[in-house]
Amino acid sequence: MSNALQRDLVRLVSRIEREDGPRATADPYRQRFHLMPPVGWMNDPNGLCRCGEWYHVFYQYGPFDPAGGVKMWGHYRSRDLLHWEQLPPMLYPDQPWDIHGVYSGSALVEDGTMYLYYTGNVKHAGNYDYITAGRGHNTVLAVSRDGVTAESNELLLENKDYPADLTCHVRDPKVWAQDGTYYMVLGARTKDNRGELLVYESADKRSWQHINTLTTPEKFGYMWECPDLFELDGQWFLVCSPQGVTRQGNKYQNVYSCGYFPLYGDFRGDYTLGEFRELDCGFDFYAPQSFVDGGRRLQFGWMGMPDADYANPTVANGWQHCLTVPCEIKRDGERMLRVPAHEISVLHGEHIPTERAQVFDMVCRTEAVGRLVIRGAAVVEWDGQQLSLTLVQGGAGRTVRYADVGAVKSLRVLADTSSLEIFINGGEQVMTTRYYPDPASCGVQMEGAQAEIWAMGALQIQ
Ligand code: FRU
Repeated sequence: MSNALQRDLVRLVSRIEREDGPRATADPYRQRFHLMPPVGWMNDPNGLCRCGEWYHVFYQYGPFDPAGGVKMWGHYRSRDLLHWEQLPPMLYPDQPWDIHGVYSGSALVEDGTMYLYYTGNVKHAGNYDYITAGRGHNTVLAVSRDGVTAESNELLLENKDYPADLTCHVRDPKVWAQDGTYYMVLGARTKDNRGELLVYESADKRSWQHINTLTTPEKFGYMWECPDLFELDGQWFLVCSPQGVTRQGNKYQNVYSCGYFPLYGDFRGDYTLGEFRELDCGFDFYAPQSFVDGGRRLQFGWMGMPDADYANPTVANGWQHCLTVPCEIKRDGERMLRVPAHEISVLHGEHIPTERAQVFDMVCRTEAVGRLVIRGAAVVEWDGQQLSLTLVQGGAGRTVRYADVGAVKSLRVLADTSSLEIFINGGEQVMTTRYYPDPASCGVQMEGAQAEIWAMGALQIQ
């Protein structure tokens, strides 16, 4: 199933990757153990799944423009989350219903076949606000049996099929099978600017009925992007990335937020949403997606933030953004804990002294008050009330972020060339950020902490 536009895009993507790849690869801020775009731009993880022996990670990919550009689904696969194969994009913007972008979505795997649900973005030329008019957000299904190419592409739902009180913004289908039925959630913005989530049901994966709408009694932002809805150890959680939530103290410090509500009752009928908690309080975490892998649920997030006023100097070398490490998410009462998947520890090299730490995994036991200074660039301080992360150098516009944590008992810091993922108290809270220290800098100074530090190896990407 290809057309002339797709054939040209295939050639153009491979050409730009060949031509611009070496410049991206030579960037001193290129990451070692995080997935990045080969060239150009990356945002949300998409279509995460395990299909047979392969893990598949798709992502919003803009190969032609490190500042964004038209989106397609870039593709990596791996058997072990450590050795990755870079494949050609699975989905290109080559149909009338996705011509201005193959936007975010998810994968349903059945009998070795991948059903990829995504949002086809269409922007009509004209004098539109692109909120209430001028934009098509279509729900599309592509099917792949070989896990490498899509053999069909079908338009399932368009704006006129969604509830009448919505703007054009209805996107990011997350689909799963349960009790012999298929369910889909879509993020939406109503005409009176409230964020909500639509629940759909299907018996055949193609024809979908709207059966419920999930939202809060009080307005919570104007749009909920990238929904995820799942049960974890007996508790349902609704994850989404709300836009338009204003800062309150140390909550919602970024331009857009990302977190979860515990959901009580039944998402198909009567339900209530509990208190919203942020999944991360660093600068760069958005649009996470999870999938089931045997007995565990893994989640990748986008290590970036749309419309933020801070920058990434990698743009000068033709690429921008990366994903987080895969994390396992676990239930702790009504909360979710997030910890790096155990595979990450396979990348441990030798134990290193603090003064040599540059790209590392560090596990600290902490005292009530303490401080870490990482590569002279990032300062982490805690005092029994809150933990702060201050970028004193190389923040590229990033300043300080806070976490209300109370007592800090343990910290784990995953430091890559240009990122930090700080897991507080076994993943009760996480702070994720990009940073751009002097490439030659190394060392961690610490007070109030005893640490074990390993040098980290790199992912193998072919
Ligand atoms: C979230 C998002 C999604 C959309 C995609 C487009 O970052 O805005 O809602 O599908 O990115 O790239």
